[in-house]
Amino acid sequence: MTVRCGLIAVSDRATAGVYEDRGTPAMREYLSRVITTPFEVVERLIPDEANQISAAIIELADVEGCCLILTTGGTGPAPRDVTPEATEAVLDRVIPGFGELMRRISHAIIPTAILSRQLAGTRGSSLVINLPGSPKAIAECLDAVMPAVPDCIDLINGPRIDVIASVGAWRPPQS
Ligand code: MTE
Repeated sequence: MTVRCGLIAVSDRATAGVYEDRGTPAMREYLSRVITTPFEVVERLIPDEANQISAAIIELADVEGCCLILTTGGTGPAPRDVTPEATEAVLDRVIPGFGELMRRISHAIIPTAILSRQLAGTRGSSLVINLPGSPKAIAECLDAVMPAVPDCIDLINGPRIDVIASVGAWRPPQS
């Protein structure tokens, strides 16, 4: 079975064509580099509109069957930044450790990391993770949380995802 991953770029300006969406390629390239299980991506580019963000997450989780859904952008404190609220509205459960860890490691890199309100959680058998908008931040944050992603997807009854050894993913030993 081919695993599916959803990539949602949230940006008014990229949607309007003011600049190119660099978040989607960054997320796609990261996953292509680390995931060894055959997978395909389902991509969406949408403006900073809460109802569209929530609808995209619902569609990618419930209709497209994506076990991992990454969003990029809209996590800061600006008035148009609504990704965390729109995400939380459609999650079954928030897993606070993701946001806590991503902010902690990011703060060692850039002081403004505390401005990101990024969170993560589950919707059914899908794990949804908010990432900041910059491609650099995407890689930094994924480096931090990816070790826990395969086990998390196991625990929510998603498909098995294997990653390259250098990720340092941890799974409980088989009994
Ligand atoms: N996290 C990491 N790892 N690297 C970064 O460069 N940029 C920060 C922060 N988190 C950054 C980061 C900045 S400048 C902002 S404003 C917030 O993420 C929110 O970004 P967003 O609104 O594009 O989601």
